[in-house]
Amino acid sequence: MKFLINDKKWPAPGSVPFLEVLESISNRVEISDIQTFIECGTGETGDNAVHFSNFFDVVTIENNPNLHQRYNLREGTKNAIKWILGDGRTNLKSTLLQHPNKRFLILLDDHNAHTSFVEQEMQIVYNCSNRTDHIIIVDDMKFAGRGSYPTVERLEQLSKQINSDYCIENTNIGHDIYVIYTKKELK
Ligand SMILES: C[S@@+](CC[C@H](N)C(=O)[O-])C[C@H]1O[C@@H](n2cnc3c(N)ncnc32)[C@H](O)[C@@H]1O
Repeated sequence: MKFLINDKKWPAPGSVPFLEVLESISNRVEISDIQTFIECGTGETGDNAVHFSNFFDVVTIENNPNLHQRYNLREGTKNAIKWILGDGRTNLKSTLLQHPNKRFLILLDDHNAHTSFVEQEMQIVYNCSNRTDHIIIVDDMKFAGRGSYPTVERLEQLSKQINSDYCIENTNIGHDIYVIYTKKELK
């Protein structure tokens, strides 16, 4: 499936790296049953959420009120966007607990410099969902082992705790965007 919305690959200006990540794995993973994208860390503009709304319902979480108020009235392109002001961990947890059997596409990108919540959020995925086959994207693993960023080895342990069959891959897109997924069965 094609997720590149403008054919621009990172680092070309205007590229959408997380959609490029999804496209890079799209022939190895089942994506068609995923309806909702959860983004921890909406960021400065909300643009990533709007891009993903071309393909998914979007739940995006930002804890900075000044940023949130910039974009929280923006509409999705093809699907709805829920703009949440709050903590990524709390709202990831409540979203998973509300839909324990639903499979999600999850982006862990809520951090301030080297203060990251990836470790806690991976534990939340493990503890709060019945599913073991979410697609999880982790941004900025160039910071691995710095501050509270997990090392690559720790990210592998946290992933395998959820599912020993998980593939953990550095896509080499962006600043070492990692993607965690289960391979689809070949027919
Ligand atoms: C790198 S930016 C996100 C970029 C965005 N995902 C994108 O693709 O454009 C990280 C964002 O996470 C936010 N953030 C930091 N800690 C957070 C937390 N605990 N919960 C929610 N958002 C948080 C920061 O305010 C910042 O806006």
